[in-house]
Amino acid sequence: MGNESYPMKGGDGTFSYTKNSSFQKAASSVAQGLICSAITDKFDAQKFLMSTTSTAPASATSTICIADLGCSVGPNTFTAMQNVIDTIEAKSKIHSQSPQFQVFFNDHTGNDFNTLFTSLPSNRAYFSAAVPGSFYGRLFPDASLHFIHSSYALQWLSKAPEELVNMDSEAWNGGRIHYTGAPQGVVDAYCRQFFKDMELFLDGRARELVVGGMMVLIMPCVPDETVTHSQVPAGIMFDLLGASLLDMVKTGVISQGQVDSFNLPIYGVAPKEMEALVEKNGRFSIEKMELTNPASAVKSTEDSLNTSVSGNAIARHLRAGMEGILSNHFGVDIMDELFDRFSQKTMEFSERFNACHKQGTQLFLTLVKRK
Ligand SMILES: C[S@@+](CC[C@H](N)C(=O)[O-])C[C@H]1O[C@@H](n2cnc3c(N)ncnc32)[C@H](O)[C@@H]1O
Repeated sequence: MGNESYPMKGGDGTFSYTKNSSFQKAASSVAQGLICSAITDKFDAQKFLMSTTSTAPASATSTICIADLGCSVGPNTFTAMQNVIDTIEAKSKIHSQSPQFQVFFNDHTGNDFNTLFTSLPSNRAYFSAAVPGSFYGRLFPDASLHFIHSSYALQWLSKAPEELVNMDSEAWNGGRIHYTGAPQGVVDAYCRQFFKDMELFLDGRARELVVGGMMVLIMPCVPDETVTHSQVPAGIMFDLLGASLLDMVKTGVISQGQVDSFNLPIYGVAPKEMEALVEKNGRFSIEKMELTNPASAVKSTEDSLNTSVSGNAIARHLRAGMEGILSNHFGVDIMDELFDRFSQKTMEFSERFNACHKQGTQLFLTLVKRK
């Protein structure tokens, strides 16, 4: 289906995701407690496990299989997986069970799996394997997983909608790189692409999870339809990135056509949209849907937004995530200038950030496979 792949910056250099993912870490740490509660309340591990005291079902196993979809290069995936395992283990002990754990780390084939696997925690008590490929297709055999986790990955679409580069379309998005501040036709095209992708995602996972298996999704979102993307932190960031590119058009470093033909394949979902998609799929129950506030966890960042150091930190985080896709289109040579220009817009970012919606811009969703 023409999935495009732009993994995070690999290795462990200055601009690597490994060194520049503390914002995502802080944001997903907000979700860790919710994951513990979801497992404690709704994840029935003993149903899947062989028991010495009772008659085990024919499908019983001694191993709980867990997948992290869109794991990137670490370290956040390790923290998240350990949290899931610790909680399942603590719950299993109550039932005198001690399962083994298998963790599948999934990301695009182009992900730097070498960096990921060389930094696997040495004291881990789980088996590990890589599963390369897009999560918008099938990744695992039928009914082979008990728990699926995905954090800050599902905002990536399989591709930018094609209509955005068609000048005759209502969705023509010339002069912008995203839908922040764009006409409704552009927003609708992004929304349609998200729905297509998410339907494939849910169909695949519904087949891969066992009945009773759990899926936890954490993703950036817009709290409701009254809030536009230009009022949430990610939208402001993409807006300023677009403005930095347009500055470079003015100085002749890149062409207007290059900007017109580039669109970020990223979508911020609204909770109601996710609810509709899960209902349409029909194979999961929504056990919890909660809006959390990642800005509270990145408070130290927020506090220091007025300093140039933090401007650089924001630029480095954005670069770790976006350099792949941007350099693929604009060329690697302009990256230093682009992110220098972006970090010079920190003051504007700071003002808009202070005024924007920070409440409820992270969606936490717990689904249980029901049939
Ligand atoms: C911002 S990183 C988040 C990484 C990690 N979960 C974390 O919280 O730090 C998003 C990751 O999702 C991956 N990703 C995006 N689309 C994907 C897809 N269709 N299939 C698999 N991985 C995907 C990207 O390659 C990237 O590594």
